[in-house]
Amino acid sequence: MTEYNDGIRVFVADASCEKYVDTILETITNAAKVRGSGIAKRTHEYLAKKMRERKAILALKDEEFAGFCYIESWEDKHYVANSGLIVVEKFRGHHLATRIKEVAFTLSRLRWPKAKLFGLTSSGPVMKINTKLGYVPVPFSELTQDDDYWKGCGTPENPCCINCDVLARTGRKYCVCTGMLYDPADHEGEPLPVELPQDVIEMAHKAAEMDLR
Ligand SMILES: CC(C)(COP(=O)(O)OP(=O)(O)OC[C@H]1O[C@@H](n2cnc3c(N)ncnc32)[C@H](O)[C@@H]1OP(=O)(O)O)[C@@H](O)C(=O)NCCC(=O)NCCS
Repeated sequence: MTEYNDGIRVFVADASCEKYVDTILETITNAAKVRGSGIAKRTHEYLAKKMRERKAILALKDEEFAGFCYIESWEDKHYVANSGLIVVEKFRGHHLATRIKEVAFTLSRLRWPKAKLFGLTSSGPVMKINTKLGYVPVPFSELTQDDDYWKGCGTPENPCCINCDVLARTGRKYCVCTGMLYDPADHEGEPLPVELPQDVIEMAHKAAEMDLR
């Protein structure tokens, strides 16, 4: 594991982090405008709930917001996606997204050990990070088919992403983003990329046990 001495803390958020939600939403919206990519609509309550459920990763430099992403399960927990990845512009280029994704990946593997992890992205840096974590590019047919997941891209009538007309036109087979998948069956016995605090590990194990009941 690489050590970073830049004073940025990357950790699994909890209810006390709700005060950062509006800044996160504003940063995501502004970054989407700059990229001209459109954006999946997320509300304050949606992200606050992710924090309460311990499904969000936050990066802070002292008390200043630096980066974020959250995880979410689909199709009865058979699939897990990372979403909403953002790094504040002045903190980019120092492997902060890498660190956030490593924590999200580790949390996802502990929380849903059998789930396939996936993402949709058109970002070169994200493809690089995913590849290092063991994701491979796949056709959309290998990703979750849960309609609620795909609703995040929007529809031509109610677009979220500027390319959602392509997705609709191809019957959800192709689009501008690349689908990437990590199948745990292909990585048995491999170590997790980072070590999480004991309380987070226990929380994730407890939640995983509840899923089995
Ligand atoms: C995409 C984003 C999260 C990357 O954050 P970051 O902290 O700068 O990323 P990292 O420093 O961890 O970079 C990951 C890899 O991509 C490379 N990379 C990062 N930015 C790059 C750029 N602009 N051009 C080329 N390579 C780049 C890094 O060198 C690194 O590769 P390495 O491990 O081989 O050195 C950030 O730019 C961002 O928030 N963008 C706007 C929102 C967005 O696009 N989100 C992703 C939606 S899927």
